[in-house]
Amino acid sequence: MCEIIFSRIFLGFHVLLLWMAGGLAHAACPLELNPPRLVVRYGDSVSVNCSTSSTDHEGMGWEATFGGTSLEQDVIVVTWTVKNLTDWTIQPKCYITSADGKQCLETFPVILYKIPDRVSISVLSHSGPMVEGTQYQLQCDIQNIAPLQNLVVKWYKGNELLDNVTYSNVSKRPEDVSATLMISPSRDDDGDQYRCRAELDLGPEGPQPHPTVTSEPLNITVHYAPEFLPGNDTVEVSAGSDVSLDCSAEGNPPPELKWTNNTAEGNANEITVGRLRTLNISRVTANATYNCIVTNSLGSITKQIHVLVDVPPQQHPTMFSTAPSTPETMTTLPGTAKPKLVTFSLELNPPRVVVRYGDSVSVNCSTSSTDHEGMGWEATFGGTSLEQDVNVVTWTVYNLTDWTIEPKCYINLIDGEQLSIVLPVILYKTPDSVSISVLNHSGPMVEGTQYQLQCDIQNIAPLQNLVVKWYKGNELLDNVTYSNVSKRPEDVSATLMISPSRDDDGDQYRCRAELDLGPEGPQPHPTVTSEPLSITVHYKPCINASRLPVRIPVFRGYPEELVCEAEGYPQPRIKWVYDPAKHVSEAGGNLTVFEAGLYNCTATNDVATSFIVVEVVLNEDYLPLIAGFVAFMVVVISVIFVVIYSIYYKNNKMGRYSLKKAKLSSTPNGNVAQNGGQDTPLPMTKLSQPNIYF
Ligand SMILES: *[C@@H]1O[C@H](CO)[C@@H](O)[C@H](O)[C@H]1NC(C)=O
Ligand SMILES: *[C@@H]1O[C@H](CO)[C@@H](O)[C@H](O)[C@H]1NC(C)=O
Ligand SMILES: *[C@@H]1O[C@H](CO)[C@@H](O)[C@H](O)[C@H]1NC(C)=O
Ligand SMILES: *[C@@H]1O[C@H](CO)[C@@H](O)[C@H](O)[C@H]1NC(C)=O
Ligand SMILES: *[C@@H]1O[C@H](CO)[C@@H](O)[C@H](O)[C@H]1NC(C)=O
Ligand SMILES: *[C@@H]1O[C@H](CO)[C@@H](O)[C@H](O)[C@H]1NC(C)=O
Ligand SMILES: *[C@@H]1O[C@H](CO)[C@@H](O)[C@H](O)[C@H]1NC(C)=O
Ligand SMILES: *[C@@H]1O[C@H](CO)[C@@H](O)[C@H](O)[C@H]1NC(C)=O
Ligand SMILES: *[C@@H]1O[C@H](CO)[C@@H](O)[C@H](O)[C@H]1NC(C)=O
Ligand SMILES: *[C@@H]1O[C@H](CO)[C@@H](O)[C@H](O)[C@H]1NC(C)=O
Ligand SMILES: *[C@@H]1O[C@H](CO)[C@@H](O)[C@H](O)[C@H]1NC(C)=O
Ligand SMILES: *[C@@H]1O[C@H](CO)[C@@H](O)[C@H](O)[C@H]1NC(C)=O
Repeated sequence: MCEIIFSRIFLGFHVLLLWMAGGLAHAACPLELNPPRLVVRYGDSVSVNCSTSSTDHEGMGWEATFGGTSLEQDVIVVTWTVKNLTDWTIQPKCYITSADGKQCLETFPVILYKIPDRVSISVLSHSGPMVEGTQYQLQCDIQNIAPLQNLVVKWYKGNELLDNVTYSNVSKRPEDVSATLMISPSRDDDGDQYRCRAELDLGPEGPQPHPTVTSEPLNITVHYAPEFLPGNDTVEVSAGSDVSLDCSAEGNPPPELKWTNNTAEGNANEITVGRLRTLNISRVTANATYNCIVTNSLGSITKQIHVLVDVPPQQHPTMFSTAPSTPETMTTLPGTAKPKLVTFSLELNPPRVVVRYGDSVSVNCSTSSTDHEGMGWEATFGGTSLEQDVNVVTWTVYNLTDWTIEPKCYINLIDGEQLSIVLPVILYKTPDSVSISVLNHSGPMVEGTQYQLQCDIQNIAPLQNLVVKWYKGNELLDNVTYSNVSKRPEDVSATLMISPSRDDDGDQYRCRAELDLGPEGPQPHPTVTSEPLSITVHYKPCINASRLPVRIPVFRGYPEELVCEAEGYPQPRIKWVYDPAKHVSEAGGNLTVFEAGLYNCTATNDVATSFIVVEVVLNEDYLPLIAGFVAFMVVVISVIFVVIYSIYYKNNKMGRYSLKKAKLSSTPNGNVAQNGGQDTPLPMTKLSQPNIYF
């Protein structure tokens, strides 16, 4: 009751104060606040003095959700103090009651601010590189900032201020804000960094410099379609001279370049230096058009370059057998070529090469003929010019990287015929990585289950020479070869089915990629072996039945110990299941039973549960009965002996006794002896009915 009345009075007082605040707001209030206003960081301390010039008042004080004071009399200063200001909507008021009963109050303006927890920048609805000329929206996420009306979001590209955003929304409590910026990047913006910054401009009373939080920079990549750099598209040359065709282009990502031609012409040799791409053709003999195709992920463009040959009407050697031959050559070939082939053979030394990708190679092409118009090598790399008066030409490449290279040695005979021989080149590359894994499975394996191991071989060439070998420990399990023919590097996956047994637990599987490149290839064969894969094999529990018969007899009063042992991996947990009413004692896997019943031993591990049910049957214990019977018989027999002896003794010493009488008198003695000599508690009645229990 007391509390309710008090709070009503207190509430009434507040209402009165509020009403008075409305009524007296503009009246001169003899209160001065020091400082007059405050900007406080959330959680900081604050202290404000409210002083009055009036000495004649009935009391003054602070009213606030935190740090309010009671009505104080005979003071001219009251202080509002909060150690940890955390009320976002606090509105402290200093009030005074003058001597004539009038009251007035002054609200203290306080701004609580909070710097954001996090400022992050991202591209909206897009990831990866940007494309020139496309519009993208950058978003700046500012988390937990207050007050919103003092926030300025600034966008930067590098150090250049692009834009600033302010908010007209008024919010005292912290909010999450997202500002956006539209950009349409150009190729020059590639690699630029965008940032956004949240700044709190809290006016002259606020902290200086303004509290700011800046996002991590956002690096942008700007791609654009390939473009040709200016260059000639018609080149005039004199016959037999060399020519360079220019197909320089730019683009991001840097474009790939491909040359095609409509005529088979010249020893082409492409040179690429940055954006400058040049095709060098030696000994041009015929008009031709070359197409230069420049491609990147954003597009493909083609440029035609015409090579015009002003030919003095002289004889020129036909360079290639593939060139449209003059009818003359065609007709003379079948008749005369064969004997010449024998006489002027070309010989390669070595006749075939196996080269590791990027290695150097050098092959001599020699002829026994001294009487020829010239010989040379034709190849995408390392081709030579037509050399006269020699009988050896060498094809040399320092860094062989053309997977499909087919170098050809040719000789021009005097009659205009040409012989050529292609050098067989095998380029190989050992895999970048060989790794082994279990397909669609992780964790321990279970005995008897099939698993598929996979061997991933990355970037190997040539496929037809690859042998994948599977090992368990050091034992070779399987080897796999490929009939696929591929000159370029490929990724290959070989698989092996295994069905592990418990003995395989802890075994290590490995796979090895071996390149068997024939007798010309490197010896020993280049191999790359995977890291070993260790397997764990679990198997289900198996209860040792030899120690746990299915049926066990138990004698009354003699408990039997049932030993349940099980083998399994992981080690099985043993549990006995039985009628809880039974009298047993359990220790480890051993159960001591006293009564008949079914006792179920279960062994459980992660793999499975096995159980054996033991039937315990109760047998009466005949040992005491038999012992009792034997003892009784011993007593009876000994009594009979005593009687016989005493009769014999009396007959000899004391006179005549009838044997019949002596036997009769001995019977009570026998009973007494039996009762005294037998300790077993078994009653005599049991003797008469043992067969019931057999
Ligand atoms: C408030 O007044 C007390 C003395 O009454 C003085 O010590 C203190 O510095 C004053 N605080 C402010 C913020 O003026
Ligand atoms: C201020 O109060 C807030 C919320 O009650 C609490 O989390 C913070 O630890 C306090 N700070 C200090 C310095 O007492
Ligand atoms: C914000 O941008 C406006 C014009 O967009 C500019 O007048 C003002 O100075 C900028 N403010 C700041 C703090 O840079
Ligand atoms: C500001 O107010 C407008 C209109 O109520 C609302 O649409 C907008 O989401 C608010 N902005 C923020 C940052 O809360
Ligand atoms: C952005 O670019 C800078 C400088 O070029 C570099 O140091 C930084 O690692 C890049 N950041 C990311 C996320 O790529
Ligand atoms: C064309 O090529 C010639 C030399 O072959 C050169 O002098 C000339 O400047 C080139 N023209 C253009 C437009 O590049
Ligand atoms: C022109 O075509 C022939 C036959 O297709 C080819 O052997 C030759 O390398 C090509 N030249 C160029 C520069 O592509
Ligand atoms: C190449 O073409 C030009 C003009 O089209 C012609 O004058 C010249 O004879 C041709 N050269 C050959 C080798 O055909
Ligand atoms: C061989 O060429 C490849 C590709 O052009 C290059 O990456 C490599 O560095 C070169 N190696 C040598 C030894 O020049
Ligand atoms: C590969 O396996 C086959 C039979 O599967 C065997 O004959 C051959 O010797 C094995 N090769 C190697 C290199 O072990
Ligand atoms: C269970 O019995 C076996 C054989 O009687 C004994 O070796 C083993 O220690 C016993 N285990 C426990 C936990 O008592
Ligand atoms: C023995 O116990 C196991 C598990 O507790 C149960 O699955 C099984 O059916 C039981 N066997 C019998 C015969 O009650």
